[in-house]
Amino acid sequence: MKDRGLLPDGVVFRAVDEKQIISDFMTRHWGSPRMLVGMHTYDVTEIEAHGLFDAAGDLLAFASWKLRDRTIVLCALHALREGNRFATLLLGEIKALAQRIGARSIRSMVTNDNMPALVFYQKNGFRFATLYVGAVDAYRPVMPGMITHGHLGLPIHDALELECLI
Ligand SMILES: CC(C)(COP(=O)(O)OP(=O)(O)OC[C@H]1O[C@@H](n2cnc3c(N)ncnc32)[C@H](O)[C@@H]1OP(=O)(O)O)[C@@H](O)C(=O)NCCC(=O)NCCS
Repeated sequence: MKDRGLLPDGVVFRAVDEKQIISDFMTRHWGSPRMLVGMHTYDVTEIEAHGLFDAAGDLLAFASWKLRDRTIVLCALHALREGNRFATLLLGEIKALAQRIGARSIRSMVTNDNMPALVFYQKNGFRFATLYVGAVDAYRPVMPGMITHGHLGLPIHDALELECLI
């Protein structure tokens, strides 16, 4: 399958049942387990999650997602060990999953500061879909604790949505 590379020996792709691990991780990283995508907020404990695990069962990367119409909405995608292509491999598996369940596209929302993610998604076939100026500021009341400054200390105000057609 085009976007699906072979996983390294011992690495498996499967659903993440232990949602609390994801919730705790998101709270540590972003200040909230509630994420904003496409003008909806999602709590990562209440939606689907898939991940890559190593042979010892340790989580290498995860994606929280929800199917909306025929779009997989990625509410979070994280590599726990960055720079090892785990996010790329995981995204390849999510694309294959999207094909299996009949989704037509994958969408993700990135905050204005997040240059690594903007590069990552574009390298993986995503295009810009929508710019929501001031969206993070507007949604802060329903995402209490959400960090105010991100990559390189840039202030976080806006959200950019990217889309990849399947
Ligand atoms: C963005 C993120 C998912 C990348 O995970 P990763 O496993 O390190 O990424 P990969 O190793 O698969 O890298 C794939 C490509 O992304 C780009 N990339 C990854 N990290 C980057 C960085 N810090 N700066 C610039 N480009 C980067 C590179 O182009 C890379 O390809 P290359 O090494 O051949 O140039 C990871 O940094 C992360 O978890 N960030 C925090 C969570 C987040 O912001 N998620 C996205 C929004 S929900």
